[in-house]
Amino acid sequence: MKIAMIGTGYVGLVSGVCFSDFGHEVVCVDKDPRKIERLENGEVPIFEPGLDLLMNKNVEAGRLTFTMDLEKAVTGADAVFIAVGTPTRRGDGHADLTYVMAAAEEIARVAKEYVVIVTKSTVPVGTNRQVGEVVKKANPSLDFDVASNPEFLREGAAIDDFMKPDRVVVGVQTDRAAEVMADIYRPLYLRDFPIVTTDLESAEMIKYAANAFLATKITFINEIAALCEKVGADVKQVSKGVGMDNRIGNKFLHAGPGYGGSCFPKDTKALARIGQEHAVPMQITETVIKVNEEIKRRMIDKLLDLCGGSFNGKTVAVLGVTFKPNTDDMRDAPSLTIVPALVGGGAKVKACDPQGRHEGEALLPGVTWVEDPYESADKADLVVVLTEWNEFRALDLKRIAESMTTARLADLRNVYSPTDAERAGFVAYESIGREGYTR
Ligand code: UDX
Repeated sequence: MKIAMIGTGYVGLVSGVCFSDFGHEVVCVDKDPRKIERLENGEVPIFEPGLDLLMNKNVEAGRLTFTMDLEKAVTGADAVFIAVGTPTRRGDGHADLTYVMAAAEEIARVAKEYVVIVTKSTVPVGTNRQVGEVVKKANPSLDFDVASNPEFLREGAAIDDFMKPDRVVVGVQTDRAAEVMADIYRPLYLRDFPIVTTDLESAEMIKYAANAFLATKITFINEIAALCEKVGADVKQVSKGVGMDNRIGNKFLHAGPGYGGSCFPKDTKALARIGQEHAVPMQITETVIKVNEEIKRRMIDKLLDLCGGSFNGKTVAVLGVTFKPNTDDMRDAPSLTIVPALVGGGAKVKACDPQGRHEGEALLPGVTWVEDPYESADKADLVVVLTEWNEFRALDLKRIAESMTTARLADLRNVYSPTDAERAGFVAYESIGREGYTR
C-alpha cells in the first residue's frame, strides 16, 4: 500500500514509521522545513524510546521518506492520513480544526484518483463528515472516501502500543474504504489484533469515551487515596484489592498527583464541550476535570504541611517535571501547577529530569536545573518525587537524607514507602493515599 501521512508531530511520525515497518510505502509530509531537514538527516524531533532506530531502519529500506511536497506524497496514495494538531481553541475550549480542514482541502486539490482520506487526529464527533464535505466542495469530481482512525498511543510506549494494540478502531461509510483500511492494518490482523469497524461517528466517540473513562478511573482512585489518608488505609493495598476484580482491572488505578499529558486533559474538556452543545451535559466527565484540578492543588497543601506551613526560604529538590516518565512532554503536567506554587511561595527550586529540562526551562521560570538527583537534593529541605522515572525509583535514600539540610521526602508517585524513608533517616515522609510521618 502507498500511504501519505500529513503532519510529522507525535502521532503522525509514530504512525508513519510503524506503517512503513509493516512494509507499506510511506511518505511523511510537513510544512516545517526544519523538521523535514532533521528527519531527512535521521534525527527524530521528539523523544520516544525506539523511534529513531525504527525510523532509520525503514528509511534505509527505502520504504519511508519525508517531504514538504504534499502533491507528490498524495499522488498515487491509497490512503492519506491527516495527523495534524487539534489544539484547544482559546476562549471556547473547542478543538481547533483549522489545520485538519486546511489539510483536507489541500489533499482534495491535488488528488486525482480514488483515495481514502483518514483522520488520525482526535476530532469532535461529526468532523469526518465535515472533512468529506470540504473535500467534495474543493474537488467535486474526486472519487474518495473518508475514514476515522483514532489512535490510542501512550507516550513513552507508543511503538509497542501501535504494534500490539488492544484493538484498532476504523470508522467508515463504505465497504471499499473498509477494505483499504483492512489492507493497511493486515499485518496486525494476521497476528490476531482485532480491527473494530464502525460508522464514522462511533469511531470518533470511542476515542473520547475511552480517554474520559481512563481519566475517570485515575481520578476515582486519586479521590479514594485522599480518603485513605484520613482513615488510615493504604491506597496501594486498596488499589490492588479493587483491581483484582476482573470487571474493574488493575490498570490505571495508580494514585498520583493528578493526570496530565496531551490527551486526557484535552479530550475530557472536548467531550464536556460536545455534551454541553447537545444539551446532554457530561456530568461525570465535568466532575473529573474539576476533581483533577483539586488533586493537583492538594499536592501543594501536602508540600506546605511538610515544610511547616511556608515555602519561604526553603530549598526544594524536584525530581521529574514531565507528566510521566519516558517522555519529554510537559503538557498539563502536575509540575506546572506545583513548581510555580513553590517558587511563588519563596522556595529555591532545584529541578532534575532526564528529558524534561529543555521544555522545563521555558515553562518553569525561576528554577535552577541540575543533571543529577543527588545534586538537587544536596542541602535541600525537601525532596519531591514528581515523575516516576526509573532513574528516581532506586535512589540511595540514605545518601540523599544525609546530604539534606532537613531530610523531608514527598513521594507523590508512591515509589518508596514510609519504612524505606524512616530507615534512610528522613525526619518526614508523605506519599499518596497512606499515612506519612513527621518526627
Ligand atoms: C493517553 C492514553 O493512554 C492513550 O490511549 C491516548 O490515546 C493518549 O492519552 P498518554 O497521555 O501518553 O496516553 O499517557 P498515559 O500513560 O495514559 O498517562 C496519562 C496520565 O495519567 C499521566 O499523567 C499519568 O501519570 C497518569 N496516570 C496513569 C496515573 O496517574 N495513574 C495511572 O494509573 C495511570
